[in-house]
Amino acid sequence: MTAQLIDGNALSQQLRTQVATRAQALKAKGITPGLAVVLVGENPASQVYVRNKVKACLDAGLHSVLEKYDASMTEAALLERVEGMNKDPSIHGILVQLPLPAHIDAQKVIEAISPAKDVDGFHIASAGALMTGMPGFWPCTPYGCMKMLESIGYDLKGKHAVVIGRSNIVGKPMALMLLQKNATVTICHSATPDLKAMTLQADVIVAAVGKRNVLTADMVKPGAVVLDVGMNRNEEGKLCGDVDFDGVKEVASYITPVPGGVGPMTITMLLVNTLEAAESASN
Ligand code: GUN
Repeated sequence: MTAQLIDGNALSQQLRTQVATRAQALKAKGITPGLAVVLVGENPASQVYVRNKVKACLDAGLHSVLEKYDASMTEAALLERVEGMNKDPSIHGILVQLPLPAHIDAQKVIEAISPAKDVDGFHIASAGALMTGMPGFWPCTPYGCMKMLESIGYDLKGKHAVVIGRSNIVGKPMALMLLQKNATVTICHSATPDLKAMTLQADVIVAAVGKRNVLTADMVKPGAVVLDVGMNRNEEGKLCGDVDFDGVKEVASYITPVPGGVGPMTITMLLVNTLEAAESASN
């Protein structure tokens, strides 16, 4: 059996077209959805990510500003900038790219963002809203994973989902979203003694560790759906995920590729969140 691909590029294109249409409707009312992206320092990966985020906004007809600051920027100065953006009516979403330089308390900066503009979904109010099923912004990567499951018409009710990884950005919110859709959810992590025993029980597996070959074919139940959140490089420098794609695709029913899977969906959901922030502000 060879798994069907869940194509993150194709799904992103569909969803971004819908965002562009809704953005046009808002513009007709005199509101252009706006995202501010803040980058502090010179992290090369972050520079690529923020460029892609700003470009995706502009391509969908959203307004986007990129503010770049030197790595020596003080925490107080960054907090002041965030406060300025909270008050700026042309900005509906604020994204402070992580990681921040070590002298800046990232959590403090995230908490300074108005929850109404927290399009990354990292604010404690957004996390609390997700946990309690209240309205709020969902972190973009797990939200994108949910959209991928929706795109194949997958009903999570009664299914066993295993999430590998427990980060605040992916693993924990992913588990809550799956739970909200009535899956039975297991979160595995570095202290899980027998990962394979867990994943072999799973109907859905989300791998979000940041390490190659965390999931191999012998760990997957035939017909399982496998979502790969990893972004790693192999020995040849080629982009790869956490999943041994070539092996697992022979066992799974659906699988997301890397690149072209979850990655583009993360940016797409950022656009969706920014658009919805602007729509809420317009009501
Ligand atoms: N660094 C890596 N991923 C992300 C993300 O989704 N948002 C922000 N703000 N920083 C990141």
